Amino acid sequence: MSEKYYITTPIYYPSANPHIGHTYCTVNTDALARYKRMTGHDVFFLTGTDEHGQKIEMYAAKDGSTPQQYADKITAGFKRLWELMDISNDGFIRTTDKHHMECVQRVFKQLYDQGDIYKSEYEGHYCAQCEAFWTETQLKEAGGVCPDCGRKTELAKEEAYFLRVSKYAPRLIEHIRQNPDFIQPVSRANEMLNNFLLPGCEDLCVTRSTFKWGVPVPFDEKHVIYVWVDALVNYLSAIGYGTDHDELYKKFWPADVHIVGKEIIRFHTIIWPIMLMALGLPLPKKIYGHGWLLFDGDKMSKSKGNVVDPFVLVERYGVDAIRYFLLSEFPFGNDGNFDNATLITRINSDLANDLGNLLSRTVAMVGKYFDGRLPEPTAPVSGEDSPVTECAASLWERMEKAMDEIHPHIALAEIWKLIGLCNKYIDVTAPWVLAKDETKRARLGTVLYNLAEALRVIAIAIQPFMPNTAPKMFAQLGVEEGELRSYESMKRFGGMLPGAVLTKGEALFPRIDAKAEMEFLDNMIEEQRKKAAAMKAEEAAKEAGEKPAEENPAEEPAAPESKPLITYDDFAKLDLRVGKVLDCVEVKKSKHLYNITLELGAEKRTVLSGIKDWVKPEDIIGKNVVVVYNLAPRRMCGIESCGMILAASTEGDGDVVPLTTLKDIPSGSLIR
Ligand code: MSP
Repeated sequence: MSEKYYITTPIYYPSANPHIGHTYCTVNTDALARYKRMTGHDVFFLTGTDEHGQKIEMYAAKDGSTPQQYADKITAGFKRLWELMDISNDGFIRTTDKHHMECVQRVFKQLYDQGDIYKSEYEGHYCAQCEAFWTETQLKEAGGVCPDCGRKTELAKEEAYFLRVSKYAPRLIEHIRQNPDFIQPVSRANEMLNNFLLPGCEDLCVTRSTFKWGVPVPFDEKHVIYVWVDALVNYLSAIGYGTDHDELYKKFWPADVHIVGKEIIRFHTIIWPIMLMALGLPLPKKIYGHGWLLFDGDKMSKSKGNVVDPFVLVERYGVDAIRYFLLSEFPFGNDGNFDNATLITRINSDLANDLGNLLSRTVAMVGKYFDGRLPEPTAPVSGEDSPVTECAASLWERMEKAMDEIHPHIALAEIWKLIGLCNKYIDVTAPWVLAKDETKRARLGTVLYNLAEALRVIAIAIQPFMPNTAPKMFAQLGVEEGELRSYESMKRFGGMLPGAVLTKGEALFPRIDAKAEMEFLDNMIEEQRKKAAAMKAEEAAKEAGEKPAEENPAEEPAAPESKPLITYDDFAKLDLRVGKVLDCVEVKKSKHLYNITLELGAEKRTVLSGIKDWVKPEDIIGKNVVVVYNLAPRRMCGIESCGMILAASTEGDGDVVPLTTLKDIPSGSLIR
């Protein structure tokens, strides 16, 4: 009976359309799944979407739709992309699926009934003035008073449910220590132990009562279940855990590997195993945290306009070229930099030249010298042959090692090593010279046989990575469906039958015009950047109660995201100072602005700031902020704003966080 293999991607938030980062993770997982199927495993490959939570509620509201309508729309885009990318998933779970929600409720109730989830209160030292809870440590650091406003705090409570993380943490630490393969790459295991588990874990609050878009706690509908608890259960609900139809669960649990981005490894290696321990279920065998794709060294973000759209790339260069680039260019455990120039170079050099030409030259030479029939390798073995024949015969072993270590990029590098050796073999043996000498006919036949046979091995090997290219290669090589296309047949060099008919076909990867394509891709990103900047400018203009930018020529154009280098003198023109926030109130006429009173040394100032969506007044009053002191004053909503408060922003989770100082310092202090 074949061995089972259960592999998963994270379930993606359908907050915005899928981009190349999601594609990167799913394509790598797909290659692993396809490889396991090829090597005889019984595979279940799961992906899906994580549709609950406050963020989706917020995006839907902005879009003017209900959360469900919004999730339906974006999830359809994910499904279209996976079809386009030839993703071979066996299941697609949505956390709004009825059977999933029921499973989450059953799990929650079981944990509650057995006492591993308990009702309690967010308990802490509460500052009524700042409406904020403080932990013992924070309070201690502030000298026993509210760290924000310096007032005395009081003990206060708020009702919520908690998971007993602390009860299971020692067992988990032991498990991680005993199973060095559990968290991969291993550096991430150390990070989890040293940064989170060993310093001590507090119980986790697993419900929310401030919004509704989630799975209700079955016995207390005021609360919804924390989106991460809901999401993690997908790995069980998708295979029927706890239902009458749990055949898949019985066959496939525990998961063999959860592939996740490095930013969510903590949820998968701490919360998830603890939930499973509490449920009395076996833990996944491995959690692999891969790195991020950056664009030109920068995090991809819609608001920066540097998001790479996989639909456009596939339409232009084809699915397998994009799959190859994503699988080979970036070591899976590390961050990688996506840039257009490298994409084009790799398509032309690795695919069109190295692989494409190797196949077309080999088929053409068999056509020219042997009427398209594969010759018999009758010449005695020569030292020129062995680099190719030995590398081809043992390729499967190196691939197996690489794939077992979740290193698809290494497996591909091994395949391309063989391709390189074959190209070198053609240079060294010079078949066109052999062809001129009738006494070298056997040698010529042997060289061409070895090349065709190595190409057959290559075609088998690339199947998990480039599922459309392999059949095209088999067709040109005259390798019929069946045994000679099988993984097992890679293990014996010399499987191809002399006499097989090789037929010239279309170029596997036509060369692309590098200059024109660079221009196209760069323009596309430039256009996106302009659009993103224009949208920002428009929002700012709306905010100020003015006309949209394009109708208002006096408006300064929005600053481009990718800025040219500046000298120190340029920087020195900025007057940056520390301001203390004395007050923060909403601007009545504006949806997004706060009117903030700042203390800057002896001076007081009014600054309007568009941070209302992300920051509560009580979070910022009493805090130090970074102020652009010499920004020209500007009137918005009838109020003059003198200066600007700096904030860091992310697109991924849509957060905006004002900058502050590491420790207290008098207001008005210069920043340089
Ligand atoms: N919904 C959660 C996961 C729950 S799993 C039980 C979530 N979703 S997400 O949409 O924000 O992103 C999930 C994953 O997408 C990341 O962990 C990563 O695998 C992939 N990526 C998203 N952006 C990426 C890059 N820029 N680069 C590489 N992978 C990226 O977190």
